[in-house]
Amino acid sequence: MAKPIIIGNWKMNGLSEEADHIVSVLLTYAEQNQNFAPTVICPPFTQLYHIRKHVKNTPYALGAQDCHIAEKGAYTGDISAAMLKDVGAEYVILGHSERRAEHKESNELVNKKAVAAYKSGLLPIVCIGETKEERDSNQYKDVIANQIKGSLPEHFNGLVAYEPVWAIGTGVSAKNEDIAEVILFIREKLVAQYGENGKKTPILYGGSVKPNNVKDIFAIPELGGVLVGGVSLIPEDFLQLVTIAQ
Ligand code: G3H
Repeated sequence: MAKPIIIGNWKMNGLSEEADHIVSVLLTYAEQNQNFAPTVICPPFTQLYHIRKHVKNTPYALGAQDCHIAEKGAYTGDISAAMLKDVGAEYVILGHSERRAEHKESNELVNKKAVAAYKSGLLPIVCIGETKEERDSNQYKDVIANQIKGSLPEHFNGLVAYEPVWAIGTGVSAKNEDIAEVILFIREKLVAQYGENGKKTPILYGGSVKPNNVKDIFAIPELGGVLVGGVSLIPEDFLQLVTIAQ
């Protein structure tokens, strides 16, 4: 069975000193360990080019946290998928619930971003997941089905991350049986949408993943890995996840 993928989303964290510290701990680990689980770090845009120089020819891949739908042009402040590829990113997180909430990103916009990522040769990590209200009112499957239908483009070569909004940054992960139910539901929807290809799409879980709960999370059927926020800023803890995934 393939090793689960570990993706660290630094979110809006990581000034130079902190970024250098995290990367140096990761590099020391890579020198001492071989054949470890696929690991991706997604720092803020400002650190990508610098970190690329350090992780080149190491087992770590780089990802970004968002991209624009256009390749280039008059979009002040935005960053295109081509620019991310140019500075060494291989992945891009799209439709994170923080962007859906704070930047009002719709499924349609996320879909266009996924197309832009694909065209530039990036692997999109499309995030989906319900809010607490949607969970409590038992609407979560409808929400997730809509997000899959709306956010994933006709040709999709990326990853899907299930992140229940109510489990993000709380320190308390969703219950394993709840995660397992949704992961299987997502798989069904992917197969309905993409046929055989839908069986291959890695489905990740994110939301308060930590060294003390990741082993049980990895045991969930059909789970392809984890998307990690807070713990990705504590390199010793993050590397525990990598070690457990081996
Ligand atoms: O992208 C990562 C998720 O939002 C999870 O964040 O591990 O801090 O709960 P967290």
